[in-house]
Amino acid sequence: MRKTIIAGNWKMYKTIKEAIELSNGIKRELFKLDNPGIDIVLCPAFTALSEVAEVVAESDIMLGAQDLYWQDEGAFTGEVSAKMLKDAGCTFVIIGHSERRQFFGETNESVNKKIKAALANALTPIVCVGETLKQREARETFKVLEDHVRNGLDGLNKEDLLKIVIAYEPVWAIGTGKTATPEQAQEAHKYIRELLGKLYGKEAAAQVRIQYGGSVKPENISALMRQPDIDGALVGGASLQVASFAEIVKKAAEVIK
Ligand code: PGA
Repeated sequence: MRKTIIAGNWKMYKTIKEAIELSNGIKRELFKLDNPGIDIVLCPAFTALSEVAEVVAESDIMLGAQDLYWQDEGAFTGEVSAKMLKDAGCTFVIIGHSERRQFFGETNESVNKKIKAALANALTPIVCVGETLKQREARETFKVLEDHVRNGLDGLNKEDLLKIVIAYEPVWAIGTGKTATPEQAQEAHKYIRELLGKLYGKEAAAQVRIQYGGSVKPENISALMRQPDIDGALVGGASLQVASFAEIVKKAAEVIK
């Protein structure tokens, strides 16, 4: 059984004070749900990690970062290591988000190094993969997914695979209000799982959690969650408000119960 996982990617939003307020609000709302059987992960900006860690300390909510650098320490101005993220209270880290690929030169090679660094430091990587609109229109979706998965996970063994989460995030659906239809998302998730099956064996592939990301909202989470290969969501915009994030978790809980 794959445990549902819903993560909030706060991107470059929220001051420390706002992050404390948001995480406190989410904690209060989720407490009312009385353990919905879902892994909940909040991913604030680096500056708010320690404070949000304190807020969620006595709850089931887990903390994630949005990126890391693969060296443990050194003269790498501006970077943050896996070791530092652990120290700040993280157990998860988003790797290879399309915004990092698009704006900050992230490649499959850097994604691969980051995944290995995260695993070496007992952080669970949430590895983002997904095609742009241009690639989808050119019917290259599967080709792109294969490239991201094969090269991003290069050198990982089966045990490593079981420690990661994959997020399928079609770039054209991120922050655009345009969600992939549940069928489109399922098709991509199924493709990723089959590819993992070829690379690591069916049994291992069946255990890997694959989240969907891209304009997930309270209005579309239920239909997405009903798809057999969708194991949760990576939520951007709708994770910035207590009500919408809590509603997404609540609706997901209703589908899986
Ligand atoms: P969105 O972002 O929900 O705002 O589309 C998702 C993501 O980038 O992870």
